[in-house]
Amino acid sequence: MREYLPLLIVGGAVGAFALIFLIAYLSMKDKKEAIGFDRSMKDTEIIRRLMVYARPYRKNFLIVLLLVLISIAYDIASPVIMGRIESMVKEPFELGRLWLFVAVYAGILLISLASTFLQAIVLQVTGQKILSRLREDLFVHIESLSHAQLNQIPVGKLVTRVTNDTGAISMMFTNILVNLVKNSFIVLGVLGAMLLVNFELTLMILCFVPFIVLFTWIFRKFSRRAYRRVKDGNTDINTFLSENLTGMKIIQIFNREEAKQAEFEEKNKKLTAAKYQQIMVFGIFRPLVYMLYISSVLCLFYLGGRGVLQETVFLGQVIDGGVIVTFYMFISKFFNPIQSLAEQFNMLQSAMASAEKIFTIFDMVPEIVDAPDAIDLPSVRGEIEFKHVWFAYKEGEWVLKDVSFKVEAGQTVAFAGATGSGKTTILSLLCRNYDVQKGEILLDGIDIRHIRIASLRSHFGQMLQDVFLFSGTLRSNIELRMDGVTDEDVMKAARFVNADKIIERSPDGLDEEVRERGSNFSAGQRQLISFARTVLHRPEIMILDEATANIDTETEVLIQDSLERMMNIGTLLMVAHRLSTIQHADKIIMMSHGRIIEEGSHAELLALQGRYYRLFMLQYDKAQLKAGLQPV
Ligand SMILES: Nc1ncnc2c1ncn2[C@@H]1O[C@H](COP(=O)(O)OP(=O)(O)O)[C@@H](O)[C@H]1O
Ligand SMILES: [Mg+2]
Repeated sequence: MREYLPLLIVGGAVGAFALIFLIAYLSMKDKKEAIGFDRSMKDTEIIRRLMVYARPYRKNFLIVLLLVLISIAYDIASPVIMGRIESMVKEPFELGRLWLFVAVYAGILLISLASTFLQAIVLQVTGQKILSRLREDLFVHIESLSHAQLNQIPVGKLVTRVTNDTGAISMMFTNILVNLVKNSFIVLGVLGAMLLVNFELTLMILCFVPFIVLFTWIFRKFSRRAYRRVKDGNTDINTFLSENLTGMKIIQIFNREEAKQAEFEEKNKKLTAAKYQQIMVFGIFRPLVYMLYISSVLCLFYLGGRGVLQETVFLGQVIDGGVIVTFYMFISKFFNPIQSLAEQFNMLQSAMASAEKIFTIFDMVPEIVDAPDAIDLPSVRGEIEFKHVWFAYKEGEWVLKDVSFKVEAGQTVAFAGATGSGKTTILSLLCRNYDVQKGEILLDGIDIRHIRIASLRSHFGQMLQDVFLFSGTLRSNIELRMDGVTDEDVMKAARFVNADKIIERSPDGLDEEVRERGSNFSAGQRQLISFARTVLHRPEIMILDEATANIDTETEVLIQDSLERMMNIGTLLMVAHRLSTIQHADKIIMMSHGRIIEEGSHAELLALQGRYYRLFMLQYDKAQLKAGLQPV
């Protein structure tokens, strides 16, 4: 009995640890939170959908599997060869045999290294291809979503989906899956090899397996929770950043820096805490596995030493120095993959969670799509008609109520009315940024829902209230990737709308850099650039939502002048605030609370002496004052 005391001591120590951790786990609050990732999709469903992306690369994955099997040979053969070399010490020494073993060892090592190298290359290339396709598909899908759908998801979240989450999936293909397969093979292979070499020592090592299983199981629960917190923290910070960096100027103007700082700090702290937690979990798990490893090595030396000294025989097998060396190496080959398996299983879970998040976005069916029988309209006259249109952004809250009007081809129609009366909404319905709930919108007498969206939008030139310039150059912002445009075309369009001065005054001309959102240009300049963009694309119908932002008098005159010229290009629907602009329209439509209240030419509406008349008099007085005249 005394003989087994050291083994009992080691066993007792391991058991005590196991007990402590079991108690720690059982006393863990929120066990529910640690159980899973709140997944609603089934694993099989996620895997099936991921396989769609992996399938084109089946061959690559088969090659990798083959390479994995080859590289494993080293893990299994090397301890055996080392043991053989050790055993030679006892035997009459033969240099030739030693050379043979060394050569075989080196050969296997080389082959294994080469196959690991190849495997990494094939996997990385494949992984990048899958990643790039996934990212692209996701981006294309996001582009196809309607404005209403896009408004539902914060931009930061979308960014996380396209970057971090696709990255996690690519990790899964390049790293996790292969290692899972490889490590499982190694564990099984090493186990088989150990059994062949010595039963007694294998049984001793198997005694540690229940503890490994227990620790791994507890570790998985804790680390899953940590993983999820880190993930949520990341998304949270991305969302916060993308919103607040965009709105930074407002934050500064309203002196909200400190409040926002506090908000950020809180999110930052949360993420840091989650990271700490993750590090802690790993920090406890790894030493635990190491402890098991050391314990089994101690037991090996004790049992093995005893076996060598006493020449004990177990099931017909004898232990000698070579067996001890072989097992010493086997033990580490056995424990390493188990530890990686546990850690990678979590990464797999987390990648699956990422996949689910991505697929949730893919599952958002674009609301505004081409009807199966949608037609192409190569050219249009530009006649627009609203027929009893009802529209609501949110169900039940009608923003447009029974709106009907007709615009003849080539006419200019101006919408006027108080803020929130629905002017911008009318303009955005034309291009099917949203679909109407009741009634219909006709282009040349055809319901726009029967026209292919791309075809429909190609006939419109939209100049929106907040002009969006992309980072790039003046040229790229005016061309917007249109083919076959010369600089002369661009300049001609710019000249037509008085934007040529902006280009000429810029040191680099058309190559002048435009920074993100066009922040290095004034609101008026941005508006003129957007006019040039529209005119260059020669749409049959132009939509203009005039900027209300303060524009200097000089630019205002330029805008006014270019507007008058644009009225002659084609149909023009616009929201205009300046009375001088409105006057020139063929028809003015007065809006109030989503209804048309007055409609007619400037003269007709003045004669009516209604809402338009009052609005006009109000502005007229102001204009007189501005001109230094006394009010009448
Ligand atoms: N994306 C949106 N989601 C929900 N409600 C909106 C949205 N855009 C505008 N609205 C609401 O619709 C109404 C009309 O807005 P809008 O057409 O922009 O008015 P206008 O351009 O005449 O100032 C407003 O009450 C506004 O709050
Ligand atoms: Mg508006």
